[in-house]
Order: sequence, then C-alpha cells, then structure tokens
Amino acid sequence: MRGYHNGRLRLLPHPQLGRPALLRITREHLMHRRHLLHLAAGLAAPSLRRPVTGAQEQPPAIPALLPRDPTGRHFLLYSDCCSGVPGTAVSANLAAVNRMVARIDPSPEFIAFPGDAVRGYTEDYGELRRQWDYWLGTEMAWVAQRKLRLFQSTSNHNTYDAGSETVFRAVHAKLPRNGPPGQEGLAYWVRSGNLLYVSTHQPDQQMLIDHAWLERVLENNADATYKFVAGHYPVFPVNGYQTWPLWCFPPRQRRPFWDLLVKHRVDAYLASHIIAFDVQLHGGLPQIVSGGAGTAFGPGGFMPGRSEFFHAVQIAVDQQGLRYQVHDPSGRIRERWQWPMTLPDQASWQQVTPQNATRLLAGAHLQGRPIAVRIRGRDSGMRPASPDQTLLAGVDTREGLEPVWIGIERDSGRLLVRLIPVSGEGWQVWRGPPLPVTGGWDHQLCLDPFMGPGGVLHRAIPSGPWSTLESTSSKGCEHLAQPQRWVVGHGQSGPSDRPFRGGALQLTMATPARLPS
Ligand SMILES: [Fe+2]
Repeated sequence: MRGYHNGRLRLLPHPQLGRPALLRITREHLMHRRHLLHLAAGLAAPSLRRPVTGAQEQPPAIPALLPRDPTGRHFLLYSDCCSGVPGTAVSANLAAVNRMVARIDPSPEFIAFPGDAVRGYTEDYGELRRQWDYWLGTEMAWVAQRKLRLFQSTSNHNTYDAGSETVFRAVHAKLPRNGPPGQEGLAYWVRSGNLLYVSTHQPDQQMLIDHAWLERVLENNADATYKFVAGHYPVFPVNGYQTWPLWCFPPRQRRPFWDLLVKHRVDAYLASHIIAFDVQLHGGLPQIVSGGAGTAFGPGGFMPGRSEFFHAVQIAVDQQGLRYQVHDPSGRIRERWQWPMTLPDQASWQQVTPQNATRLLAGAHLQGRPIAVRIRGRDSGMRPASPDQTLLAGVDTREGLEPVWIGIERDSGRLLVRLIPVSGEGWQVWRGPPLPVTGGWDHQLCLDPFMGPGGVLHRAIPSGPWSTLESTSSKGCEHLAQPQRWVVGHGQSGPSDRPFRGGALQLTMATPARLPS
C-alpha cells in the first residue's frame, strides 16, 4: 500500500494537462480542485453540472469517482461491444451504455477500452474500415466531442489477420508507434503525467507479448506513480471460462507475464473478452475484466446471464489505493471495491473456538464486509486415503450442505473452500494449495463479498500478498446466506462428521479496518 504523503491536501497542477485539450481539462481540473477542497473541509462533493446531452429531459449526472488526493487519477474502463454496424442489437446495447457514461461528471480523464470495439472478423477490409469509422465517428462520438483520449487494444474480433491489423493501425493513427518491432501501432505505451498506460498486443487467440519490451517500458517509467497494463484476454480464467487460448492465457504464459507486472508494481491489469465484470487478485495485483459494452454472448446473453450485465467501470487511483464502481446502463452502482484492504496486526486477531465461533463469525456479517481467517495446524499424516476433514464450517439447517465449508479435501490434501453462493443451488468450490502431510501449516483465507467469485482469497505468508483461489464459479460470497451457526473441526452433523484428524488446530479471525466506500 502506498503511503499517504503528509496528510495535507495540496492543490497541484493536474498531471495530465495537455495543450490540445487545455480548455476542457482546465474546467475538469477546476471541478477536481473543488472536489478536493470539499474533501479537505469534510464536506460532500459539490453539486455537479448537468451533462450536455441535447435531450429535452436531461437525465441526472452521475457523480464521478474521484481520487482522494491531488496525485490521483480517474478514468473509465469499458470494452467489448463488437459493434460498428448501424441498427444492430449490439449497437443499441452500446448506445445504452454510452448514454450512461456520458452522464459521468466530471468526465473521466481517459477511456481504457481493451478491445473488441467492432464486429470485425471479415476479410472485406473496406467493410471493416466502415465499421471502425461508424464506431469512432458516430457511436463513440461523445468521446471525440469531449476530446477524451481512448486507449484501444487489439483483440480477436478486430485484429485477426494482416489486413485487419493494417486497418487497426490506420484508424488509430493517433496511438503511439512505440511498440516492439513488428507490433508498432498494435502494442503501445502512453505516459500521461504520473500515469503509465501500456496496451499489449493480443490478436485472435494469441498473446504476442514481447516481455523484453514490456520490461523495458516498465523500467523506463519506474518513476510513474500509477501504472496500468491492458490487453484483451484475461490472464486467469473468469467465471469458469478456462479453455485456452479461446478465453484466457495458456497456463505456461500466465506466470511469466504476471510476475513482470507484480515486479514492477503495476496497479492493475485491465482486460475484456469475457462478457462479464470480474476482479481477481494474484500476488496482490488485481486483474479487472470488463466485457460489458454491448456484446451479447453466452448463456442468457452474458457469461453467464445469471450474474452479469452490461456495464462500464469508473476507476480512481490515488495514494491510498485503487477503487472502482461498476455502473449498469441505468447508472446504478452494481459493484464497488477498493484495494488494498487493511487488516489489523496478527496479534490482535480474535481467537475462534468451538464456543465462540457462532458469536464471532455471525457478528462479522459475511455479506457486509470481508472476513479473514488464519488457520494453523498440523496434518494427521493419513493421506492420501483420508476423507474430507473440516476446519471451519458455517451451518444452516435449511440448506442440505454447509453454506461455508473450509477444510482439507479428501485424497488431494488441498485446502478447500466450498460455498453455496445461491441458496438451494449447492456447493461451488475454490481450490487452495496442498497442505503438507508432515509438519505444520499456517494459512490465511479471506472471504470478500465485494469481489464476486474472485473474493475467496488466500495467502500462505502472514503479511504476504493475497491471491484469488481457483474456481469455476460465477458467484462468490455476495449473496451468501448468513449461516445460523459455526462449527470448528467437524461438519454440521456433529463431532464424527468429517472431523479434522490432525492436531494443534488454531483459528483466529479479523475484519478489515476500512470498508469499501
Ligand atoms: Fe474478444
């Protein structure tokens, strides 16, 4: 977590001031200054001007999510509409999202759009060019009218052969030509004051990332306060879409790329492609996937429809960390999150015993705030033939299974979390690391109801980085029913039900000091 400098708000020139947009950004800058002044005075944000829509009845402005100090930045992430053709359903979907994002006031500093803007997938490059022209000139006209920069990424629908890459380069002539050899105009980086934005080249089912180039860019911009890296494909599977390279990076390509981002303290990796909104943590670094700008695909029109919706994401980053708000086309905030979370010192975590588990954990209100649990113990040495062993479980007699079951998986010996994200629909599974058969272990889990399925977090080092556990679920703790009671060391039927057969079981728990706001 970055330190908050000296606690005193100083009004600095905005780091993104640029001559072409001087008048507009100056106005935004004044809005930002007013916001900061009100923050400093402990007041609510100032009333917002009405958006210029030209409509007779103007919908209300949507307050921008603004940084909490003058170094901070704020921008909009949305992506994946496969549009560019008038009169289509996806065009109407995009228009609905655009009507909403145009209401955000003050405007975002820039737009991150990691790919699949137009329908593409055609060898008629004249038609492809028409799609881009319609998308940029008509559908996304609001971006040009406000002179916002839009950072487009290559993607499967839009860069699928040499001809389509030529069109991409031509229609994005203003993007920097500073990519690695052969990828000029496809991969690029932009330095905007104290912020670095890198867009990697990920054409159709290929992650053609030049790691030497990326490392050089990150090294040369080490002084950037904020760093974002974007690309069309999720590195880690989202909502169970784990076929690679169809939906995500091949496993062997994940770790080298991710380690580079972690090493250089990138603030987040931004991606799209899955028609969903999703956040995960890996090594403490968020993967934020937004594919809600209009494409209809998957069960129920999304991936999947039961948990996803069209949307755009406001992101703000400052010295305290990263925050986002996910808005549906009505403008309603459907999800919000901030990172990092701040947990109390380990020494002050509360001991969880069979006697106090229900009082402590029920009082933690699982739907309303994250809960972190530290679990220490030693194994029985009985594997691989041992059955499931329960470490901690939340019980609800109205469900067939425990709504929350944390334990050691039979045979594999893995730390396992099973949840019932939707009442009556049974367990979904999050898989942790194998626990050693001999010797002790010390692990922490965190259930974060603000992160969807990515909110089942794990770390093996007490103050180390958190990572999302592997799962195929599209839901997490957000609608988890509050268990009626909690049990330690055995399942819901009593002490002989899937008991923990090891020893020295110690449980402690804590909740973050600051809640998402
Ligand atoms: Fe895609």
